Amino acid sequence: MKKRILTGDRPTGKLHIGHLIGSLENRVKLQQEYDTYIMIANVQALTDNFDNPGKVKNSIQELLCDYYAVGIDFDISHIFIQSEIPAIHEIFIYLANFATVQQISHNPTIKTELKQKGYEASTPLGFFIYPIHQAADITCVKADLVPVGKDQAPMVESCRELVRKFNNTYSMNVLHEPEALYGVEKNIPGIDGNEKMGKSLNNAIYLSDSAEELRRKVFSVTTDPNRIHPTDPGKVEGNVVFTYHDIFNSNKDEVADLKLRYTTGKVGDVEVKEKLYKAMEQTLAPIREKRYEAEKKKAELLEKVIETSREVRKIARQTADEMKEAMQIKF
Ligand code: TRP
Repeated sequence: MKKRILTGDRPTGKLHIGHLIGSLENRVKLQQEYDTYIMIANVQALTDNFDNPGKVKNSIQELLCDYYAVGIDFDISHIFIQSEIPAIHEIFIYLANFATVQQISHNPTIKTELKQKGYEASTPLGFFIYPIHQAADITCVKADLVPVGKDQAPMVESCRELVRKFNNTYSMNVLHEPEALYGVEKNIPGIDGNEKMGKSLNNAIYLSDSAEELRRKVFSVTTDPNRIHPTDPGKVEGNVVFTYHDIFNSNKDEVADLKLRYTTGKVGDVEVKEKLYKAMEQTLAPIREKRYEAEKKKAELLEKVIETSREVRKIARQTADEMKEAMQIKF
């Protein structure tokens, strides 16, 4: 029996190369080895976008096109939509008995996000409770593994705790304790040098960007700010063009040569960026091609995901019923 994986994305926009490097490439590999469930967390997306439902709705199709483009196989991975699984909300309320307001307040992910979103003084309850809701996402299919980045690690930890408490309280092994699956942590900086790439920061290279857009963005990448002339010795470390070269350029000799010439003032930004563009285009052109293909069959992809959601609905219903049985509220 293959182990089961559950991962999720909030549909709030198109995916960028940070997602590709950080998680999508990994998912494509994992889907062969594991029984993979990918949730489009549209209900969770509403917790900080409740006033923008159109954005969340439209982002679902973008997400599906991005998945298809990078090679997530809709027949192998079970891709489903959170709002189609009502038992998740039911499981949430059962798990909520085992969490405290204080614990959530101390959750490092929540703390950071409350600050980022300016929610500290006035915290929407729907957002505040999302760690428990996410535990319901994970437990509804009895996932063994949750591939996450460091920022989401406390979420899996709190899920594990909720599962243990639930099972202990009712002396039944109803829920399954999941483990976090950490990939190689690869954070990619934005084209402006910000350590995070993001839509709201306006510094992302999207999987859907055309070759022209990619070229324009590559040529606008910030480099060593202290280097004025190509003959000035430049800094490679922390220089975004070279961070990207290291990730995307498979010609390591070329990268080594460019770095050497950069630090000794023997190469201009134009050559470094032209070569970066070519290297990135090698990775991104096939993805873009597949994305065009996906756009043409958007409706079909959505239909498939809705069908898969029906199957997941049954699994989650079963889990919720087992919980009810354990809590003596099943009639
Ligand atoms: N919170 C995750 C994120 O923002 C998305 C998500 C929702 C998720 N449900 C999940 C991730 C369950 C892992 C497991 O990226």
